[in-house]
Amino acid sequence: MESKKTINLLLFLTFLFHIHTLSSASILSKEAHPTKSGYLPVNATTGSAIFYAFYEAQQHPTNNTSLSQTPLVISLNGGPGCSSMTTNFYELGPWRVAPSLNQNLELQPNPGSWNRIFGLLFLDNPIGTGFSIASTPEEIPTDQEAVARHLFIAIRKFIALDPSFKSRPIYITGKSYAGKYVSSIGYYILKRNPLLPLSQRVNLHGLAIGNGLVDPETQVGTHALQSYNLGLINEKQKTQLEKLQSEAIQLTKAGNWSDATDARDNVLSFLQKATGLANLFDFRTDLDPSESYLVVELLKSPEVKRELGVDESMVYEMCSDVVRAALHSDKMKSVRYKVEYLVKNTKLLLFEGQCDLQDSVVSVESWIKKMKWEVLQKFLDAERDVWNVNGVVAGYVQKSDNLSHVVVNGAGHSVSVYQPVNAQAMIEDWILDRGLFANKDTQNLFMDL
Ligand SMILES: *[C@@H]1O[C@H](CO)[C@@H](O)[C@H](O)[C@H]1NC(C)=O
Ligand SMILES: *[C@@H]1O[C@H](CO)[C@@H](O)[C@H](O)[C@H]1NC(C)=O
Ligand SMILES: *[C@@H]1O[C@H](CO)[C@@H](O)[C@H](O)[C@H]1NC(C)=O
Ligand SMILES: *[C@@H]1O[C@H](CO)[C@@H](O)[C@H](O)[C@H]1NC(C)=O
Ligand SMILES: *[C@@H]1O[C@H](CO)[C@@H](O)[C@H](O)[C@H]1NC(C)=O
Repeated sequence: MESKKTINLLLFLTFLFHIHTLSSASILSKEAHPTKSGYLPVNATTGSAIFYAFYEAQQHPTNNTSLSQTPLVISLNGGPGCSSMTTNFYELGPWRVAPSLNQNLELQPNPGSWNRIFGLLFLDNPIGTGFSIASTPEEIPTDQEAVARHLFIAIRKFIALDPSFKSRPIYITGKSYAGKYVSSIGYYILKRNPLLPLSQRVNLHGLAIGNGLVDPETQVGTHALQSYNLGLINEKQKTQLEKLQSEAIQLTKAGNWSDATDARDNVLSFLQKATGLANLFDFRTDLDPSESYLVVELLKSPEVKRELGVDESMVYEMCSDVVRAALHSDKMKSVRYKVEYLVKNTKLLLFEGQCDLQDSVVSVESWIKKMKWEVLQKFLDAERDVWNVNGVVAGYVQKSDNLSHVVVNGAGHSVSVYQPVNAQAMIEDWILDRGLFANKDTQNLFMDL
């Protein structure tokens, strides 16, 4: 009953899509149905493949010349093992699931979609996640090098699908544990590109990490003080939590990776119990991600699977335990050295919802301060500007050279769930170097003129 309406809706939209592709391109059809979706093989021998769903920009010039300059944004989810289809249908894709008034499932247009003016590609990463296929559990990556190797193959296969993709600037984004994926694929691309002929390079223009895990040893040390200062725990609990944190830090320093991950889990579950929150994604409430289960309902449907190019026998899980287990020992390994390389070679956006307790603003600032970067002090000294969207304070932006750091007010762990329109304004301005993300030297130049 619940999914019947969805199926009807999708079939209706598919119908529109088909008649419009036969006649003329329609913005509605492009929004409603992935422009392309299916599989990008990462291993021809075994058949393992990454599932993708691509939505072309809703607004773009009608000729190919200009479309060939329209940025492509690649979106990865974290976990490890959580599907990007949650990001698509619950956070920043063009259509989001919502319970309708009569308790049925509905897709509604997302005013904060990240494909308003950019092409938007969701990848279920790594293999074994969401609709992606791992031919054997052994083939699922157990470290970031293997994740990046597969992603690099998949991204190049995607670019090869359409000649117009080749010249488009690529931006890679992800949240939470995907902070590690984004850093690692960015690093891999920048290292591999010079070894390839120009025509085969990935046209990487920037990386964006939301509420990310990057330097876990540093980040895990910030929970107690943050929660105490918010009035969520008392001094005795703060001392207990600090003890758990230092256990995680010691195990990480010792390279006892699996136990270090368990120790971090102990920190988070202590905090969750102490605060009484259902999860640590927003200290104000336990709403996130309470309705994301609707995505699972949507993707159960054989018709929807068929529409997406997925075999009906695939069982969709929001997060895969098998993938999580494969990367268990990876979790506490830092990728800060990769970010230090990236910020010298491409532009980087770090953004966090202000109310997250899992991978918080202060947890990110704690490792930014440790970065080896010759102009770090300039960044730390830069003004934090008040960021307004439609005349209302949306958060704060601090920018210097290639690094931008944004705090999004009124948002938890998955920024677009809470502030879809502000998150869209942020990614658009950052990619297009507009507003507070403009190059300040350029602005001065214009004023002189
Ligand atoms: C593909 O699978 C084979 C067999 O498991 C393995 O030897 C090879 O390294 C894999 N290639 C990639 C790119 O993962
Ligand atoms: C087509 O491309 C040209 C060159 O980029 C551009 O000037 C023109 O505005 C485009 N036409 C449309 C309809 O967008
Ligand atoms: C635009 O590019 C596609 C291939 O990407 C091609 O099939 C089509 O003919 C091109 N259209 C124009 C107007 O050049
Ligand atoms: C890892 O830490 C645990 C304590 O949590 C300890 O029992 C175990 O011996 C350590 N393993 C290694 C390889 O150091
Ligand atoms: C920023 O990135 C560019 C490459 O896009 C690089 O040439 C420049 O040196 C970087 N700036 C700093 C301060 O690291």
